[in-house]
Amino acid sequence: MRLVLLGAPGSGKGTQAARLKEALGVPHISTGDLLRAAVAAGTPLGQQAKAVMERGELVSDDIVLGMLEERLAQGDVGKGFILDGYPRNLAQANALEALLERIQQPVDLAVQLDVGTELLIQRLAGRAKEEGRADDNPESVRNRLRVYTDQTAPVIDFYRQRGKLVCVYGVGSMDEVSQRVLEAIRNHAATC
Ligand code: AP5
Repeated sequence: MRLVLLGAPGSGKGTQAARLKEALGVPHISTGDLLRAAVAAGTPLGQQAKAVMERGELVSDDIVLGMLEERLAQGDVGKGFILDGYPRNLAQANALEALLERIQQPVDLAVQLDVGTELLIQRLAGRAKEEGRADDNPESVRNRLRVYTDQTAPVIDFYRQRGKLVCVYGVGSMDEVSQRVLEAIRNHAATC
């Protein structure tokens, strides 16, 4: 199963991907996690990405695609993968489609997690207190939400047009949302 998880910052992509990984037996690939690891390791790529991420803007398409290509070349993706945080704009969606066609592993389904803005802000403020992630401060969160609306939301239509989109209501306990996601994947029915 090759899945793309879509949704605004704080919608629960990372949380649900970690659970789906267990349920589906495929790796969770988060471009945000890959970038944060590069920042923590102080690699040249991480040094380039750090300030951009802290501002809540998108790291350049070329950097992220290169990183993703490297990750998809690893041996554990034979049975599929869950992509979290990619694609983030239409250029990335087209690049991913071309890349996956080349390796004959097209996306099966994109799952859009729907959560209202107020709750997104609440969740990210909660995480800021608990974990202190560098881009969870109010100004970066505002930027991330704006970038999502301007650049990432059009990706929803990209998958809708290909008949590969399901939408899942992302409000409720983590378990409730997981159940909805699994059901939507099983039935490929929660079209939106
Ligand atoms: P990324 O790491 O992808 O961050 P994001 O999209 O902003 O998403 P978050 O991790 O904030 O939210 P999430 O939807 O994963 O929710 P989560 O499960 O964590 O990207 C960070 C940055 O990296 C970008 O801004 C950009 O700079 C760069 N980047 C990454 N990918 C890129 C790309 N492709 N191109 C260019 N740049 C890229 O949950 C959030 C919080 O809510 C947690 O505290 C969680 O515990 C809580 N929560 C989750 N679900 C529930 C629930 N059901 N009930 C209560 N609380 C919940």
